[in-house]
Formats: sequence, C-alpha cells, structure tokens
Amino acid sequence: MPAGAGPRLSRDQASAGAAAGSSAADRWITGATGNLGRHLVRALDARDAELRLLVRDPARAAALPARAERVVGGLGEPAALEGALAGVEKMFLLTPGIGAAHTEHAVATSSPPPGPEGVRHLVHLSSATLLGGQRDVLGRRHHAREEIVRAGGVPATVLRPGGFMTNALEWVGTIGAEGYVLDPVGPGRIAPIDPADVAAVAAKVLTEDGHRGTEYVLTGDECLTVAEQVRILAATLGRSMAAASRSVRHAHPARPSGRASRAARPGHRPTPSARGSG
Ligand SMILES: NC(=O)c1ccc[n+]([C@@H]2O[C@H](COP(=O)([O-])OP(=O)(O)OC[C@H]3O[C@@H](n4cnc5c(N)ncnc54)[C@H](OP(=O)(O)O)[C@@H]3O)[C@@H](O)[C@H]2O)c1
Repeated sequence: MPAGAGPRLSRDQASAGAAAGSSAADRWITGATGNLGRHLVRALDARDAELRLLVRDPARAAALPARAERVVGGLGEPAALEGALAGVEKMFLLTPGIGAAHTEHAVATSSPPPGPEGVRHLVHLSSATLLGGQRDVLGRRHHAREEIVRAGGVPATVLRPGGFMTNALEWVGTIGAEGYVLDPVGPGRIAPIDPADVAAVAAKVLTEDGHRGTEYVLTGDECLTVAEQVRILAATLGRSMAAASRSVRHAHPARPSGRASRAARPGHRPTPSARGSG
C-alpha cells in the first residue's frame, strides 16, 4: 500500500465509526504534518498506538504511516473536532499561532461531562516562554491557553519546550540571498531543542501512565547565541555565513532606487558578529 493510502475518514465517518465501535483509534493528534507532529506520529506508530490525525490537507500527510486514520478539517471547525474526538481517550493538542480560539474549541469539545467515552488525558503543547518573572506577549498568550486547558477539567500534561531548532529554517532566505542571519539578541543565549525530541517526550507521555497533572520544561542541552548557532550551521553546511545585528537593507535605507547598493548585492556580507568557517 503506498504511503498515505490508508483509511481516511470524513468527520461524519469518524463519528459514526467510533460510535459503532468500528474505529480502534484512541489517540487524537493535531499538528501531525508539522515539524513536531510528524515525528510524534511516527514515534507513536512505532509503539503500535492506534492514531487519528486531524489534517487540513491529506496530501500533506501522505508520508505519515498509512494505518493512521485521517480526519480532514481544521481546529477552527467545531464539527470536525467532534467527529475527530469521538472515541478518543488521549489527545495531543498543538495549536499554531498565538490566539486562544483553537484551544477553546478543542478543550470544550474534549471536556466533561466525563464518562467511559470521554477524553481522559490531554497532552498540551505549551511553551517555556511563559516561565520567568516578566512574561512577554507570547508568554502571556501561552499562559492563557494553559488556563483554558486547566479550566476544561480533562487531566492534562503540559509540555513547555524552549525554542525549536527548526526556527533556524526562517534564516534560509537571508542566508541564501545575502549570506547572513539577522541576530536580534546578541549575547542572549537559548538552548534550542529539536522538535523530534519534544515529540519523543510527547510519545512517552501519551503511552505511559503517571503523567497526568504534570508539567515538563524541555530544552536542548547547550546554550547558544545566534552567532554560535550560525557558526555551527556554517561548519556543517560548509559555506560562509554571518550573524548580523541588523538587516543589510535596514542599514542602507538611502540607496538609490533601481541600483542595488554594494551592501544589498548577493555575495556581500554585513559586518558580522560571527563568521562561519568554510
Ligand atoms: N517554534 C518554537 O520555538 C516553539 C517553542 C515552543 C513551543 N512551540 C509551539 O509549537 C507549535 C508549533 O509546532 P511546529 O513547529 O511543529 O509547527 P508547524 O511545523 O508550523 O506545523 C503546524 C501544524 O499545525 C497544523 N495547523 C496549522 N493551522 C491549523 C489549523 N487551523 N487547524 C488544524 N491544524 C492546523 C499544520 O497543518 P498544515 O500542514 O495543514 O499547515 C501543521 O500540521 C506551536 O503551538 C508553538 O506554540 C514552538
């Protein structure tokens, strides 16, 4: 069977199938096609878990294990959530963006009245940004989502990862065009974590007992500045690149129109705060 050719339920089929006992899926996964989710689905599949994935575009889930059910829909579609959650005991909730509406929908759909058919364990992907004395906007948003999850009443595990290593993919544009990475933090350090490692923790939590009511902060094992991350990338990729404290274009706003300044031309490197080798 080709990848992605497994059972795909519409929301109605998912609901009817679960009600009739024909669907064995007991774990519901959101964000399955993303950086983290695709690792989670594979990790759970390796543990023989029966999965139901909420996917907006089945084509994007084609490389995921074929035996995982697909429910087509988005977190902003309450009808899709009801169908997707029928018969589910455990759910992994990843809500993209910074709003609270998706969290509210998902939690409202999964929340009590409890019963043998209800969701019994919610694993909520939050963020370490809410930790510390003064929360920034992002931290406050994540805190609000956690409050919604707690108020929902379904026993939860909260995962609070720090910055993902995949955030570096956002650097592709300036590296490709001009060989630099914009570094807004200078000496500030974080310990970037591979989303695959967050997924491994989520898979463990979703398949083992003893994690309800817990909160886990997850980070990588090395604190790095942006410049140090860029040096690692440069050495790994074998190409020269730099971390710059401001964008090349921002640094040269007065260049004549129609004529690229030297600084904006491909190949020019801004004054680096780090220089990669190779
Ligand atoms: N990046 C960080 O440093 C960091 C740190 C801590 C926590 N987090 C959390 O990690 C999460 C992002 O994880 P990620 O990097 O794996 O994200 P990602 O690669 O951007 O993937 C997002 C996933 O969510 C799905 N999705 C987007 N909008 C949706 C909607 N309206 N309804 C249903 N599904 C939707 C996407 O589906 P499609 O394939 O259809 O687009 C995709 O599967 C966020 O909740 C963020 O707060 C991130």
